[in-house]
Amino acid sequence: PVDALVDSFGRVHTDLRISLTDRCSLRCTYCMPEQGNTWLTRSSLMTAAEIGRVAAVAAGLGVTSVRLTGGEPLLRRDLVDIVARLAELRSDGRPVEVTLTTNGIGLADRLDELLTAGLSRVNISIDTLRQDRFLELTKRDRLADVLAGIAAAAAAGRPLKLNAVAMRGVNDDELTDLVELALAHGAQMRFIEQMPLDAGHVWDRSSMLTREEILAALGERWSLTPVPGRGSEPAERWTLDGGPDTVGVIASVSAPFCGACNRLRLTADGQLRSCLFATDELDLMAGLRAPSGPDDAVIEAALRAAVRGKQAGHLIDSPTFRQPARGMNAIGG
Ligand code: GTP
Ligand code: 5AD
Ligand code: SF4
Repeated sequence: PVDALVDSFGRVHTDLRISLTDRCSLRCTYCMPEQGNTWLTRSSLMTAAEIGRVAAVAAGLGVTSVRLTGGEPLLRRDLVDIVARLAELRSDGRPVEVTLTTNGIGLADRLDELLTAGLSRVNISIDTLRQDRFLELTKRDRLADVLAGIAAAAAAGRPLKLNAVAMRGVNDDELTDLVELALAHGAQMRFIEQMPLDAGHVWDRSSMLTREEILAALGERWSLTPVPGRGSEPAERWTLDGGPDTVGVIASVSAPFCGACNRLRLTADGQLRSCLFATDELDLMAGLRAPSGPDDAVIEAALRAAVRGKQAGHLIDSPTFRQPARGMNAIGG
């Protein structure tokens, strides 16, 4: 019924990921430098009203799901307002699903009001359960706050996913512990292959733990059976000892899901990216801040142009691959 956002490979775009800020309460080494970045200025960030406007146009073009990311989205003081605006939207008659990807810090205090505002569920990142490692990896001593966020999210009774970037020599001996943590909270653990999106541009394939290595480590503890019917999910899933519990692996590098990708990203400063690894961005601020007022037709044209120009997939393995200039914190996780 809607004139959908279809790219030149026939992929229908129903998932919009909106970064709310490039700032973060942590400094994960694979994402941004310890000293931080030159942050986006406040006036260059999309306002809650602007975010709502773009999402409304996107919903009219068949976007059914909006995920809020960062940086750390909980650092936005107007997060509840943003969620409330998005949760009001309908796509082809059905409510748009609003979700949040967060490091969990401060979530315990704000989860209730976010759920009341219409947030559907959260995914929380946690890479290690050891305090010393957490400090080394994130440069902040906040493991307890993250665990409090996980406990609060588990208590809320919505589907909960935990994400860990799996890293050789960093947390590769904790994979089963992380799964146990998830199981204890009724959550699904997912392991992510590290992608070349670190601010230092020092990523190399050898430090990345691969899907095969992750599965081998988990396979020593559980018998793993593939779960069919993945659709456009980034994670492949396996049941643990026959289920019902499952574990996921997001193998963006060694087994990319680009062929089924249904995502479009919007940076905190209003730039559309058709892919994490897109080499170009399309400006939406022009349509949002036109002197005559926000112009939905300009926003729609930009959304369509971004999707039309989307590449088939990332080319991490190509000799000509160039890492995006922005780090993950500025692109949106
Ligand atoms: P669900 O709806 O719960 O499945 O969310 P999600 O997995 O799409 O979102 P989440 O923010 O939890 O993403 C988990 C990880 O998947 C991210 O940290 C990325 O590493 C990876 N990921 C998400 N989107 C993309 C994408 O468009 N391309 C690639 N290559 N990886 C992605
Ligand atoms: N590769 C893979 N995942 C990453 N994330 C951040 N940087 C990277 C990277 N270089 C993940 C975080 C979190 C999500 C928002 O993005 O760990 O789970
Ligand atoms: Fe913050 Fe997430 Fe980046 Fe870590 S990965 S520094 S939690 S934005």
